[in-house]
Amino acid sequence: MLLCLETSCDDTSAAVVDTGAAPPGSAAAAGSAATAGAAGGPAVIRSSIVSSQHEFHAVFGGVVPEVASRRHTELLAGAVADAFDEAGVTWDDLDGLAVTTGPGLIGALLVGLAAAKAMAYARRLPLTPVDHLQGHLAAGYALGVEAPFVSLTASGGHTLLSVVEHGIEFRVVGRTLDDAAGEAFDKGARLLGLPYPGGRELDLLAAQGDPAAVVFPRSLPHGFDFSFSGLKTALLYYLREHPDEAGSEARRASLAASYQEAIVDQLVSKTVRCAEQEGLRRVAVGGGVAANSRLRRRLAEVCEQRGLEAFIPPVALCTDNAAMVGLAAAHLGAVPWPDYLDLDAYASEPALNALRRRSQGGDRRS
Ligand code: KG4
Ligand code: ZN
Repeated sequence: MLLCLETSCDDTSAAVVDTGAAPPGSAAAAGSAATAGAAGGPAVIRSSIVSSQHEFHAVFGGVVPEVASRRHTELLAGAVADAFDEAGVTWDDLDGLAVTTGPGLIGALLVGLAAAKAMAYARRLPLTPVDHLQGHLAAGYALGVEAPFVSLTASGGHTLLSVVEHGIEFRVVGRTLDDAAGEAFDKGARLLGLPYPGGRELDLLAAQGDPAAVVFPRSLPHGFDFSFSGLKTALLYYLREHPDEAGSEARRASLAASYQEAIVDQLVSKTVRCAEQEGLRRVAVGGGVAANSRLRRRLAEVCEQRGLEAFIPPVALCTDNAAMVGLAAAHLGAVPWPDYLDLDAYASEPALNALRRRSQGGDRRS
């Protein structure tokens, strides 16, 4: 039973996850720091609390890192208390903690990491550090996806296509060459005059529009990489050339739907092609963009047509949350008490290293 924290951006999240019974004779069963949820049975989310800070950042039109850090310090203790209440467990039921250590906003991450260290240290419990991208990738485990599978992780900061080979070990096969998919949604939303956070607003507006109204360019870079910055520029130029359209609600909805369609097309087509090329039958998505209603529908449709199995987690598991941290931790080794006290948070380093290794001809992360 793990208490899990996630504070990498502007959601203050705590969850209690039962990582599954460790098989008899395993390291976890013998009382070592390792967790063995993957081998010992499916993980169960006992509670998941997300205290969104959106209203605090909305007045600034985006996340203000210092405001996020301060709000995390105010909201975290309450989120932990609620996570215990909802799960019906106490400190005595815990076997360990898990926390996101990066990538993300460094001040925000440090709040979660310091809190996790303090709580784990005080209770003499082990602590599992979890990479935020592994967390998003692990959301599919809530639906029982098993490796090998193709994973699309699309959030505000990252767009990664990977092959999960076993457990939670993955090989990156494609990534964005410029903006992340979530960034493309947010920038498009801003151009259309929608409030922050833009992705969800654009999704809602697009539901009233015609996705075929304007054919925005689909940049399809080589292989499985993505590119979204040209699309944002195309919308900017379109709005400059058709200034009247921004005034019409119906036309704005169709622009939103057409813009969304171009992003979704790129994500779905590359993900499905990757599965086919790799000879894999299972596809899972995660990250805030996987909350997009059009992406969810298109991916389900196309996978069905091609005989692929799509694992599309509930929206609450796609956007930032601490339950996914526990799902990932079930596949990772914990750091024993008190060795984790010198663990550090990181803003972006491992992700960049992974991409560098990939460009040098191969990448494996675990
Ligand atoms: O994973 P996430 O919650 O935080 C990061 O790790 O970045 O993803 C946030 C991103 C934002 O860019 C947000 O606009 C986008 O996910 N997003 C959406 C939707 N909900 C959140 N994009 C499109 N449609 C949505 N419904
Ligand atoms: Zn995220």
